[in-house]
Amino acid sequence: MSDGFTRRSVLCAAVVGGLLTACGTSAPKKVGGLGTARPGDRLAALADLPKGGGALVDTPGNGQVLLVRTADDQVRAFNPTCPHQGTTVEPPTAGVITCPTHKSTFDPATGEVRTGPSTKGLTEIPISVSGDAVVVA
Ligand code: FES
Repeated sequence: MSDGFTRRSVLCAAVVGGLLTACGTSAPKKVGGLGTARPGDRLAALADLPKGGGALVDTPGNGQVLLVRTADDQVRAFNPTCPHQGTTVEPPTAGVITCPTHKSTFDPATGEVRTGPSTKGLTEIPISVSGDAVVVA
């Protein structure tokens, strides 16, 4: 479009009321890691993590952590940001963590890369299991 208007700005100008928020800036992208979480902060209930599976968990300060339950009482945590180009990887299914963008795969027990294009594994984040909760270590 000409004269400095984008198609988006014109469309947004036509929107009124509650729909206006859809035209503003979108929610900030989560940053892989603990954000402002501190040691002892609860990240999840153990019961919310299926054995052999996991979950992406939001943390204070716009962070996000991938929790993986590797055994009844064992959980590992990783920065879910793919080392290849920064996509958020998915919780494990069928014994593998997969990046949805270019399909790199990672070992859910260690975070090590199994198949590229990523040449690096996921960065582990220190957590512990305390009773029925997963907490920042
Ligand atoms: S961004 Fe994950 S494999 Fe490319």
